[in-house]
Amino acid sequence: MLSVSEFFSAQHRACDRVFEQLEEAVSRDGWPQADALYTRLCQDTLQHFSNEEEGLFPLFEEKTGMQAGPTQVMRGEHVELRELLQRMGDAIQARDRDEVLGTAETFFLFLQQHNVKEEQVLYPMADQALQGSLQELSARVPGFPSSDQA
Ligand SMILES: [Fe+2]
Ligand SMILES: [Fe+2]
Repeated sequence: MLSVSEFFSAQHRACDRVFEQLEEAVSRDGWPQADALYTRLCQDTLQHFSNEEEGLFPLFEEKTGMQAGPTQVMRGEHVELRELLQRMGDAIQARDRDEVLGTAETFFLFLQQHNVKEEQVLYPMADQALQGSLQELSARVPGFPSSDQA
């Protein structure tokens, strides 16, 4: 069966690829493409955050009893990342290339630091804590395979 680390880390990589294409489109003033890529980046990123906030984090908190630990820190960082994503969207709408690229750089750096903490600390802890609960996770996270599919 797919592990927490594998599933959630793969979503990080998928978002990174969309981000790179978006940055590339903006760099060459490909605005219609940038609009479409930005929409996709928001969908994928916000879906991933909600997979964590509505699915992984509550289950992790339930199973470990750690309510004020790493999941709280990650929720706080999601708030800031959503704001940066919004700022990037505003700059794309304004067709302000320098502002988009500046905000994009801040967003991406912050996102990478966030993802490293999840991939090196939180997901491995979740792999341990949720060993017997992956079926429950799959009920809460769209796309997470249930054991009869895996
Ligand atoms: Fe996260
Ligand atoms: Fe994540």
